[in-house]
This record gives sequence, C-alpha cells and structure tokens, in this order.
Amino acid sequence: MKGVVFNLLEDVVTRAHGADVWDDLVDAAGVSGAYTSLGSYPDSEMLALVAAASEALKVPPNDVLRWFGKESMPLLAERYPVFFEPHKETRDFIISVNSIIHPEVRKVYPGADVPVFEFGQSEAGDLMMTYRSHRKLCALAEGFAQGAAAQFSETVAFEHSKCMHDGHDACVISMNFQRLA
Ligand code: HEM
Repeated sequence: MKGVVFNLLEDVVTRAHGADVWDDLVDAAGVSGAYTSLGSYPDSEMLALVAAASEALKVPPNDVLRWFGKESMPLLAERYPVFFEPHKETRDFIISVNSIIHPEVRKVYPGADVPVFEFGQSEAGDLMMTYRSHRKLCALAEGFAQGAAAQFSETVAFEHSKCMHDGHDACVISMNFQRLA
C-alpha cells in the first residue's frame, strides 16, 4: 500500500488523539512509522496499525477502518478539491472514483493498487457498489462513502448484502443517500 495512505492515517489519528497516540500505535504495531507518500509498504503494516488502534480503543478493526475512511474525507477534500467540485451529490462523486479519481491516483502514485468497483442501480437503494480486492477493505470503502456523504451534506445508509469476509468473492453494498435538512 502506498505511503500516502499511511500518511493519511497518521494525520487523522494525530488530529483526533494527538501525536503521542500515533507514536504509541506505531510502537504497539511494531512498524517503522516512517512513510514517504510515494513509497510502497506491506499491507501487513497497515493491518498491524489498525489492529493496534482496535486494541487501544477497544473497538473492532472494521470500526477503526470505517472511522479512518470517514475522517479522511475532509482532508482529501482540502487536498484535492478538483475531485469534489464537479459534483453536487455523493452518488456522482462515488461513481467518479472509478472513472476519474483512482485512475488519477495511479498516475500520481505509480504502483498504486486501487480497487475497481462495479456500479449499478439497486432496487432498494440509490447506488449498488460491488467491491473486490485482495485486501478486503470494504469497511474502509464504507467509511470513505460516509465521509464523502458528509462533504455533500448527505447521509448514507448501507445494506452490505454480500461480504468477502463471509466467503463471497465480492462485497455487494447498496447505498441510500439522504439530504440533510
Ligand atoms: C479524493 C478521493 C480519493 C482519493 C484521493 C483516493 C485515493 C486512494 C489511494 C491513494 C489509495 C491507495 C492505493 C494503494 O496504496 O495502492 C486508495 C485505496 C482505496 N480507495 Fe480510494 N481514494 C479516494 C476516494 C475513494 C472513495 C470515495 C472510495 C470508496 C467509495 C475509495 C475506496 C478505496 C479503497 C477501499 C481503497 C483500498 C485499497 C483496496 O481496497 O485494495 N476511495 N484510494
């Protein structure tokens, strides 16, 4: 995984809990903690950091990933306004991750291994997203979507009807967006 994701985790942890807590997580995870944005680092280091945060905060690892994704979006919106400006609603923004955002990410961060989603219309919701990745970071994807919704003054409800963690070959996540009053 690219260093930029580790940098983002450090930023959100430091903002919410302070630099000492990040240092404690790095120690507890037994990782170096020194990540350059363009470097590539083992996925196991990210998982070790998430596991250390899960242990420290007494919340399941998937909740840590969801929180990380959600808290990242305001920072991403500050750093990459160009990805947000063309859109008025979360649904369009999320669809653009496949066609615009992640392809751009691959240009800027050579070697980035970004997921490709399949999008469709679900019966029950506004957007159906199929997610496949050897990393099985569906909770991170949900967190990103939740954080994105907040950027567009919307909320999102998920129906995660199939999950790779339950042995399916892909996650199927239906999303329902609601505009905040
Ligand atoms: C401004 C918006 C975004 C930026 C700049 C961005 C950038 C990135 C980057 C740099 C990576 C790491 C790739 C690697 O290390 O190899 C990544 C991974 C990922 N992104 Fe995005 N992303 C954005 C929005 C989103 C959104 C909205 C979603 C979901 C709805 C999403 C889902 C994911 C997931 C799940 C991964 C983990 C990799 C995997 O599953 O294998 N991203 N993204």
